[in-house]
Amino acid sequence: MMQQQQQRLSAAGRAAAGPRPGGACRPAAPRRRATAAAALVEPGATVLVAGATGGVGQLVTAKLVERGYRVRAMVRDRAKAARTLGEHPLLELVVADARDAASLAPAVAGVDAVVCATGTTAFPSARWEGNNGPRPTDLVGPTNLIDATPRSVGRFVFVTSAGVEREKEMPWRILNLFGVLTLKRQAEAHLQASGLPYTILRPSRLTDGPYTSYDLNTLLKGVAGNRQAVTLSGRDDLLGEASRIATAEAAVQALTLPEAENRAFALASTAGQGPGGDASAWRELFARAAP
Ligand SMILES: NC(=O)c1ccc[n+]([C@@H]2O[C@H](COP(=O)([O-])OP(=O)(O)OC[C@H]3O[C@@H](n4cnc5c(N)ncnc54)[C@H](OP(=O)(O)O)[C@@H]3O)[C@@H](O)[C@H]2O)c1
Repeated sequence: MMQQQQQRLSAAGRAAAGPRPGGACRPAAPRRRATAAAALVEPGATVLVAGATGGVGQLVTAKLVERGYRVRAMVRDRAKAARTLGEHPLLELVVADARDAASLAPAVAGVDAVVCATGTTAFPSARWEGNNGPRPTDLVGPTNLIDATPRSVGRFVFVTSAGVEREKEMPWRILNLFGVLTLKRQAEAHLQASGLPYTILRPSRLTDGPYTSYDLNTLLKGVAGNRQAVTLSGRDDLLGEASRIATAEAAVQALTLPEAENRAFALASTAGQGPGGDASAWRELFARAAP
């Protein structure tokens, strides 16, 4: 079986490799050929979660520690993160700002995988203050993180958005008035050219999940109502909504599924029971998503 043939990354067995020095928005140059045989990232491995205080990032963090991964939560405000995430023996907080390439070295040192779920609002808001608008958040930050990530990682999972390839069509044209989709697509392209084994997840409008602070246990009790079924597509052709719970689960599942490697998936939630945390159901969803 392909999965069995692949190297598994764990805390015990990962290759020690240091980060490449980061830099903001350098032109992307392929550094190694992407192959569909990257090491799988299994429980015990160390996963950096960027955006760990955010809606999707909190859920990714909770799901990973529940399954026995070591999570390094990359946060900008340690006190806020401690309030939001609480404490767990498998959870480590590291303070870094993706916009500041120099701050990323301790965050990425020795990680086996990265999940990037950083973001800001698509339209002007208080969250843009202090140079936190779409360009620094959706392009500069992720680009720095991609550049800083050790080439040895088994997966870089990048949460972007539905509509990145349809930014001229309605309703995406409205969402892209301040360039958020264009910038996210540029960051995706940088990842695709980086040589890192990647999975790009493009959720539709996000629903469910944490809007305020929770601890990790409370987070895991959330359910997506009667819309727990998931549609994955290998094209940017979905419309509607995506549960943060399903989006976070897809990010976690993508770490261990070769079917998710080096591909971009649109994700939407629909009425029905859905895959939950069942790895074989997710394998089928990823495998069947039309390219
Ligand atoms: N909202 C939607 O309907 C929707 C739809 C499709 C896709 N998306 C995208 O899905 C992703 C996840 O969304 P979400 O709602 O979970 O995000 P969110 O709640 O807005 O959280 C964003 C996270 O990014 C972090 N962040 C922002 N700038 C950073 C920086 N320079 N360095 C380090 N961390 C930084 C924030 O940290 P701080 O706590 O320090 O600010 C926060 O943890 C985002 O990319 C979003 O654009 C959203």
